[in-house]
Amino acid sequence: MSIKFLFTALSIIILMATLPLPVRASSDARFPADWKQWKLVKSIELPSAETKMPKNMSPLYKETVRRYNWVYLGKSIKLDIYVNPAVMDEYIKGGPYPDGFTAVVAFREANVIFVTEHRNNKAIYGAYDEKGHDITKNHSSFNPKTCAKCHYFYKECRTRYGICSQLPDKPVQQPISK
Ligand code: HEC
Repeated sequence: MSIKFLFTALSIIILMATLPLPVRASSDARFPADWKQWKLVKSIELPSAETKMPKNMSPLYKETVRRYNWVYLGKSIKLDIYVNPAVMDEYIKGGPYPDGFTAVVAFREANVIFVTEHRNNKAIYGAYDEKGHDITKNHSSFNPKTCAKCHYFYKECRTRYGICSQLPDKPVQQPISK
C-alpha cells in the first residue's frame, strides 16, 4: 500500500467525519390503522400561542405548550388521547407495557397523529397524518428524538414508561386549560 493511497484514504475519512450529517428523521413507532377504535381517555385544549401560561403550571406542561402551540397556526386546538384497549389495564396501572401499540394523541383539526408504541419496556415514538404518512421530516419537534427527550426527561412520564398522561380521575399533573 503506497503512502499516497494511505494519505488519500485518510483525507477522505477525515473529510467525511467533518461533514454535517443530514437530518434524516423518520418515525420509530408504526402507524396504528385502527386508532379511531381505541379508547378515548382524555381530551385537552392546547392553548393558543398568545395565551399567557399560569405561573403555577407545571414545567412539563409549559414546555409542551411552548413546543406545540404552533401546530394549528398558533390557534388553540383540541387534543384527543386514545389508548389501545389491549393495554388499558397497564395504562391505568402506569405500566409496564407489553410490546406493541400503546397510545396516540390526535390533533385532529391539524391532521397530526402522535403515536407511542412499546418495545422491550421502552416507549418509541412516531408522527403521522391521518392517512398514515410519516410527517417527522416536516418539523424538528416531530422527530422521535424530541418526543423521547421530553417523555423521558420528566419524572411524571419517565416513571410511567414514557407515558405522560393519566386518567382524568387520577390527576397528578395540572391539566392544560385555556
Ligand atoms: C415537551 C414535552 C413533550 C414532547 C416533546 C412530546 N410530548 Fe407527548 N405528551 C406530553 C404530555 C405532557 C402529554 C400528556 C398530556 C395530558 O395528559 O394532558 C403527552 C401525551 C402523549 C401521548 C398520549 C399518551 C401519553 O403519553 O400520555 C402520546 C401518544 C404522545 N404524547 C406522543 C408524543 C410523540 C409521538 C411526540 C413527538 C412527535 C411527543 N409526544 C412529544 C409531552 C410531550
